[in-house]
Amino acid sequence: MEQAAFIKKYATTRQHTDSLKWDALQARYGNPDLLAMWVADMEFKVPEQVTQALQERVAHGIYGYSITPDRYYQAFIDWEQARHGLTLKRDWIRFGSGVVNSLYALVNILTQPGDGVLILTPVYYPFFNAVRDNHRQLVTSELRNDRGHYTIDFEDVEQQIKANEVRLFIQCSPHNPVGRIWSEDEETRLLALCEQYHVLVISDEIHQDLEIDRTNHPFKSALTVANGRFSNRVIVVNAPSKTFNLAALLNSHLVIPNPKLRQRYDAQIGRFSQTEISVLGQVAGQTAYESGAAWLDQILAIVRDNYHYLCTTFAAHAPKLVLADLQGTYLTWLDLRAYVQPAATKAFIQDQCQLAVDFGEWFSPDDQGFVRLNLATNPQNVREAAQRIVTCLSQMQK
Ligand SMILES: Cc1ncc(COP(=O)(O)O)c(C=O)c1O
Repeated sequence: MEQAAFIKKYATTRQHTDSLKWDALQARYGNPDLLAMWVADMEFKVPEQVTQALQERVAHGIYGYSITPDRYYQAFIDWEQARHGLTLKRDWIRFGSGVVNSLYALVNILTQPGDGVLILTPVYYPFFNAVRDNHRQLVTSELRNDRGHYTIDFEDVEQQIKANEVRLFIQCSPHNPVGRIWSEDEETRLLALCEQYHVLVISDEIHQDLEIDRTNHPFKSALTVANGRFSNRVIVVNAPSKTFNLAALLNSHLVIPNPKLRQRYDAQIGRFSQTEISVLGQVAGQTAYESGAAWLDQILAIVRDNYHYLCTTFAAHAPKLVLADLQGTYLTWLDLRAYVQPAATKAFIQDQCQLAVDFGEWFSPDDQGFVRLNLATNPQNVREAAQRIVTCLSQMQK
């Protein structure tokens, strides 16, 4: 489908639908009229096959206790194989009602109070909370930032693991907010350090399908790195929710290849959650895995074009702005510090540009001056946001 026709068919507005992104602007930012570029969900309707499958299920009118059908497992397993070359066994798979819920449960199950848990910052802020709220010791290693190209500081990672007796590493792959898809070399080095120091790994791969340039930066699951050498110490958490815009349907996965870790998980998960499956989440997820690939490819092309638009607009009108390389996720990480004092970022972005964004300090206390913008939206929103930033910067300089 032509991109314009796809946008016409799928892009929509969401005000007055109880959308966190649009209908909580007053509560969260004190201004209901901001242009919302925060929250990692999309302004695009799900693939039409998904809407149809949900409509059929809803028409039945019963939402009683349900089971996960074989067809769901097969759809998920086939998707992982076809899209990422990841071979899953059905008995490795468990279900959750959201990846963040699973992070909290796994921190509890895999570590003891006081144990060191490592994260690479800046990172999706619930990673901090899952460690701190469970009274584990938060250990951070800051990513290196070379003008928007982020890399792992392996010496520091090793140092942090040794100094803090780290037991668990929670990785974000692809990495929200800096947009990196870790290369196989980087992953191998990182996971080898975890192996050397007996550190377990939770790999949050919820953004796995959001590959912006699949040819040059393909996503590789931690379970397939180095031909699966590390899979015994890795638990993957992922979901169809980011890929297909299904977050509120509360259906996510844990993949646990190691039978001992699986037993430990099964024996303990009941302490934290007695949730049954989300039947609508599974109907939607199954249908999306079976028939949503073409829709996803169109979304990725839009995100790529939106990113390209930002890059060229900023290069032309505000060349000292730095956008991080966008390899994975639909979230772009913008460094405003060349123009705006870090402490004035909120006043600039929120009060002058009238934008609702995720602020840098939410992802790391050191990252005031950065903002995260969501590009899984109608290109007209991206154009509007870019124009506001450029115009307000030029007014500021006068
Ligand atoms: C890395 C990462 N993990 C988890 C989530 C949220 O997952 P869930 O809605 O399934 O809790 C997000 C949402 O942005 C995310 O970026």
